[in-house]
Amino acid sequence: MIKAKYFWLLLLGVPLVMNARAQTVYHEPYRPQVHFSPKAHWTNDPNGLVYYKGIYHLFFQYYPEATVWGPMHWGHATSKDLIHWQEKPIALYPDSLGYIFSGSAVVDYHNTTGFGTKKNPPLVAMFTHHDPKGEKEGRNDFQNQSLAYSLDNGETWKKYSGNPVLKNPGIKDFRDPKVMWYEPQKKWVLTLATLDHITFYSSPDMKNWTKESEFGKQLGAHGGVWECPDLFPLKLEGKTHWVLIVNLNPGGPNGGSATQYFMGQFNGKAFVPDDQQTRWMDYGPDEYAGVTWSNTGNRRIFIGWMSNWLYANQVPTERWRNAMTIPRELLLKRVNGEVLLASTPVKELEGIEGATKTIGFAASVPKQFLLDVDFKQFGSFSLQLSNSTGEKVVLGYDAKSARYYLDRSASGVTSFNKDFLRTSYAPALVKKGGNHLQILVDVSSLEAFVDGNVTVISGIFFPKQPYNRLRMVPVKNTVINKMTIKPLFSIWK
Ligand code: FRU
Repeated sequence: MIKAKYFWLLLLGVPLVMNARAQTVYHEPYRPQVHFSPKAHWTNDPNGLVYYKGIYHLFFQYYPEATVWGPMHWGHATSKDLIHWQEKPIALYPDSLGYIFSGSAVVDYHNTTGFGTKKNPPLVAMFTHHDPKGEKEGRNDFQNQSLAYSLDNGETWKKYSGNPVLKNPGIKDFRDPKVMWYEPQKKWVLTLATLDHITFYSSPDMKNWTKESEFGKQLGAHGGVWECPDLFPLKLEGKTHWVLIVNLNPGGPNGGSATQYFMGQFNGKAFVPDDQQTRWMDYGPDEYAGVTWSNTGNRRIFIGWMSNWLYANQVPTERWRNAMTIPRELLLKRVNGEVLLASTPVKELEGIEGATKTIGFAASVPKQFLLDVDFKQFGSFSLQLSNSTGEKVVLGYDAKSARYYLDRSASGVTSFNKDFLRTSYAPALVKKGGNHLQILVDVSSLEAFVDGNVTVISGIFFPKQPYNRLRMVPVKNTVINKMTIKPLFSIWK
């Protein structure tokens, strides 16, 4: 028996031990301090993004038994501000119909599904059931769409007994449902990735789906399979434009996975593109499967997975593997007559910003910070982030080829995959570069917002010691007005 006085000591000790553990859990080498990553184990795509009653839900492809991809679950995290995340119990487990692949979530305000009531509308998730047995047998109908719902504001989830609700017609890659309510026709619209094109469906109740149209077989980038689509309207100068996001793997502009988008019109049935252009939401190597939150009113908020299928299973982290990008608000911008998507870190980031400091061309920097560079005259430059062992990552602009680049060939640990060494390039879309550059650095990643934010470059890296130096090298005619940094406070206690 434990003597009373030792018992109290034990009780006192427990919180101390737990506290110490919490401190190490989110502070391991390479652990992002201002981005979401799971406490432990593997993640890929963000899923089921829905905002409800003041809470942003982030579900994510999750394998809770290893730090490599495996039988997929939906992990779950919530946030009040898109910046501080709290990981919750797993929301969806694999079952007899298969693994739980990517999908979306909505608030069924009219209770069209009958899962809840109008007073307590259900949150409904639509996801792909991926049957590994069918896949092994070489069938082509092993991916089907299913539903789950929550009657307690997203805390717990129940799968619908009538699953699957949309059966595979014999298309091997048939997945990643994105659902939205189309108010003009009071129906649900489903955007589904179907191998090399998008198929649109509609439904009164999310249980019975009718095929409406197909898009994209002859359009866009086709170096790989189309995955994780999204469709939403945005306004510019009083006019509504529709954006269709289509993730692609492989076949990105810099190899591997990437997110392309199309601008056009949508009439509840079909998407009609404005032109034949392929555009990219992020030219960096490490943004994939990006989609947006539902139920956020006039705001459109995007988040992607900050990795690339080329090497996601091999990056040198131990307890967990992979993280999400910073949530980005999407707006339309007119550039040289074209309407383009601009991405900006959500304004909620201000909540963790420290005091602004003006810096010179060489400065010491904290592990996570925001850098703003104002150009008086835009031109070639190279911006290096480094440590005392000489490891560095370089983000630059080459005026001659009118391209930005991200070079991480000397960034630290790179030997896990040869594709990781490749330099990424992004064409300048704005003449004179928009004269402003913002970079968000977080321990093992950077996200550069350039060209008035119509170009984003996201990349991860693994220095053997944290980077702590920044050096700006303006070339020839480039003149810099001002450089400032703001330290960012860790979101993890
Ligand atoms: C994209 C993806 C999806 C799929 C999921 C499986 O990264 O391949 O198409 O649903 O990951 O984890």
